[in-house]
Amino acid sequence: MSELPLVALQGVSVVFGGRVRALDDVTLSLERGDILGLVGESGSGKTTLCRVLVGLTPPTAGRVSVGGQSVPEQLAREPLAFRRRVQMLLQDAVASLSPRMTLGRTLREPIAIHRLPRAEAEQRLAGILQRLGLPADVLAKYPHQISGGQARRVGVARALVMQPELIVADEPTAGLDVSVQGELLNLLLDLQQEFALTYLLVSHNLNVIRRVTRRTAVMYLGQIVEQAPTQALFEKPAHPYSAALLSTNPAIDPARRARRIVLQGEIPSVVNPPPGCRFHTRCPVAQPRCKTEAPALAEVGDGRLVRCHFPYALSLQR
Ligand SMILES: Nc1ncnc2c1ncn2[C@@H]1O[C@H](COP(=O)(O)OP(=O)(O)OP(=O)(O)O)[C@@H](O)[C@H]1O
Ligand SMILES: [Mg+2]
Repeated sequence: MSELPLVALQGVSVVFGGRVRALDDVTLSLERGDILGLVGESGSGKTTLCRVLVGLTPPTAGRVSVGGQSVPEQLAREPLAFRRRVQMLLQDAVASLSPRMTLGRTLREPIAIHRLPRAEAEQRLAGILQRLGLPADVLAKYPHQISGGQARRVGVARALVMQPELIVADEPTAGLDVSVQGELLNLLLDLQQEFALTYLLVSHNLNVIRRVTRRTAVMYLGQIVEQAPTQALFEKPAHPYSAALLSTNPAIDPARRARRIVLQGEIPSVVNPPPGCRFHTRCPVAQPRCKTEAPALAEVGDGRLVRCHFPYALSLQR
C-alpha cells in the first residue's frame, strides 16, 4: 500500500488555443499492476488525458508523473527510455498503421529506432506474434490485407515488443465485432498477468469496463467527477452524472431498465463551461449552491472520490 503509484496526475489542465479547456484540474492515480477504466461522453477529455500520459500533449498546468518522475522531464532527458516504458494503443488501430509499409517493417521499426539487441528482439517478436495468434506470414502483408481484429493485434504486438510497464488503451475494441472484442479483451487480460502490465483503458462500452477494470474514473467536461472501485461504482454510483451514464446500459441491471435517467439539456461547451458545478445545468438533483460553488474532488469512503456537493442524492432517490 505504501508503494508509490505508477501513474499520478495532480491538478492537470490542458488548454488548446487558449480557449478549449479539454482537461481541467484532473487528479488521478494508478497503482502498478492495476487496470483503471476511463469513461465519459464524447468530448469529455478521455483521449486528451491519454495523450498527456504518454507525453504527446504537454499539460498546460499541473504535474504528470510515471514511476515517480515527471513525464515532461523524462521526455526531455531520456525520450527513448520513456517511449518504451509507456505505450499507447490508439483509438483507430487501422489508421495508425502506415498503409505503404509491410507489417513486418512497422513492427521492426521501433526495434531499430530503440537499437534493441537484434537477435533477442526478433525472438521476442516471434514469440509475441505466436502469443497473439498472428500467423508469421502477417509480416509480409500490408494493413489493407488484414482484418480489423488482426490490425488491433498488430498494434498490441508493436507495443509489447518494447516491453512497456504501462499501456494506455484508447478504445482498443471500438468497431470490432462483439466476439472479436471479447477475444481481444481476454488477450489483454492474459497479457497483463504474463507481462506484469498496468493499463489505463478507455471505453464507451460499460460492459467492457465492468468486466475488465478494478477501478473506474468518470469524466465530464474535462474533469473527473468520480473515481471508485468499479464494482462499487456500478452497484451504487455516487455522482449524479455517473448514475445517469450507467443507467444508459440496460444489460448491467435489467431490473433497472425502466429507471433510465435521461439527462435534459445540451452538453455545455468546454470553451465556456457553466459556473459552479459543471454538471448543474443537466443535473436532476441540483440545488442552488451547485450553480455558484464548484465542488472539489473529495473522498466519500470506500476508496471513492467524488466531485459533488450532494453525493448519492440521485442513487438514493431511485
Ligand atoms: N488538438 C486540439 N485542439 C483543439 N481542441 C482539441 C484538440 N484535441 C481535442 N480537443 C477538444 O478537447 C475536447 C476533448 O477532446 P477528447 O478528444 O479528449 O475527448 P474524448 O473524451 O476522447 O472524446 P471521444 O469519446 O469522442 O473520443 C473536445 O472538445 C475536443 O474538441
Ligand atoms: Mg477519444
